[in-house]
Amino acid sequence: MTEWQKTNWRNKPRVQMPDYTDAAALAKVEGQLSQYPPLVFAGEARRLKQHLGAAGRGEAFLLQGGDCAESFEQFSADAIRDTFKVMLQMAMVLTYGAKVPVVKVGRMAGQFAKPRSAPTEVIDGVELPSYRGDIINELAFTPESRIPNPGKMLQAYTQAAATLNLLRAFSTGGFADMSMVHSWTLGFTDEQDVQKYSEIADRIQDTIDFMGAAGITADTTHEFSTVEFYTSHEGLLLEYEEALTRLDSTSGNWLAGSGHMIWIGDRTRQPDGAHVEFCSGVLNPIGLKCGPTTTAEDLKVLMSKLNPENEEGRLTLIARFGAGKAGEHLPRLVKAVKEEGAKVTWVCDPMHGNTIKSATGYKTRPFDSVLREVRDFFGVHQAEGTIPGGVHFEMTGLDVTECTGGVRAVTEEDLSDRYHTACDPRLNATQSLELAFLVAEELTNLRRNGKKRAVS
Ligand code: PEP
Ligand code: CO
Repeated sequence: MTEWQKTNWRNKPRVQMPDYTDAAALAKVEGQLSQYPPLVFAGEARRLKQHLGAAGRGEAFLLQGGDCAESFEQFSADAIRDTFKVMLQMAMVLTYGAKVPVVKVGRMAGQFAKPRSAPTEVIDGVELPSYRGDIINELAFTPESRIPNPGKMLQAYTQAAATLNLLRAFSTGGFADMSMVHSWTLGFTDEQDVQKYSEIADRIQDTIDFMGAAGITADTTHEFSTVEFYTSHEGLLLEYEEALTRLDSTSGNWLAGSGHMIWIGDRTRQPDGAHVEFCSGVLNPIGLKCGPTTTAEDLKVLMSKLNPENEEGRLTLIARFGAGKAGEHLPRLVKAVKEEGAKVTWVCDPMHGNTIKSATGYKTRPFDSVLREVRDFFGVHQAEGTIPGGVHFEMTGLDVTECTGGVRAVTEEDLSDRYHTACDPRLNATQSLELAFLVAEELTNLRRNGKKRAVS
């Protein structure tokens, strides 16, 4: 076999990528990016891989979440802080249910490029190329805005670096100190959520007090005052990914330096395509979206290409079928994994199979469908005797109205109030926390049933 090169993807069929018209400008940007420091280091990616391996064995649980598409215009410290904070709250709730560590991975610091269902968009009879994310072109509906501009990769890199810098500061600089668990409730307006969360926070506080009395405090125990927080994005724009790929001198392997984990989308997972080729050669943990059209045969080929050594934590399979459809699609893929003896981490994305258009014209997702798909996912794994290893959400800490439903019900009429997403509709802070409680319930049941099975 010839050795993997970071440029090999260029010889493969590519889909969902822009055709840049100014080759000289593109080459200049690629040259610049390839001189810049990587955003993450190989040791971090390897550590995340270990955590994901644990999630695959049921010894940890993955919480992956963030914007559908990060935006240049909405970039702000507050938005990053709020999403980070909600993820910590959700992780707390999940840890409580699962009694295992929660691996926290943001769709952040690089989630800029979007695959689209159609190459063009028509509004009032005018047809223009589709918006493909801020790293490629602009949302405004004008011919100039939709031209792919390679210079945007530099702005994306800068924003990703600043985002990661802030996330690292939040993770270790005191914000994530567990004794602050109560203060994290601030910002929640829903009484029921605040109450449920406060109960958990009280119990955690009791434990912290008890351990403090025994001499174990945030000052003596690193784990109490810091969290590990990782970044991820769809590895879609391969010019950007290639330019940030670096050789890890300690192992001699290649690292995608753009984020800790990258995933392959449902539209770019052709076994012989450019995206699979690129991801096959980098050492990072890789996510693979599995949708209704994923066949058992394709999955087998993809697993052998993406994880030939059958390394734990290397491959996360992110199921996204739509509510009521996991029963039809997931079993054949679980069977394929079993037949190959493949080590994978199963994760549920209950967002991308549940996008609908509301009567008021907005792209939305009903909270009930999201919840139902999570339950289907757990149900199939229970029936198959396999392990649900995590969840993947499009969510924000901001109080948006993009998905309908939830306890503080967002109606179709409400969607226009605070609909800010640059792409798909996100769960707001309250909906996210509510979902975390429901997933925690599933995990608690799983644990109890597991114990019962072990006894009987
Ligand atoms: C996404 O995760 O933003 C996405 C586009 O998902 P999928 O590839 O599963 O449709
Ligand atoms: Co999306």
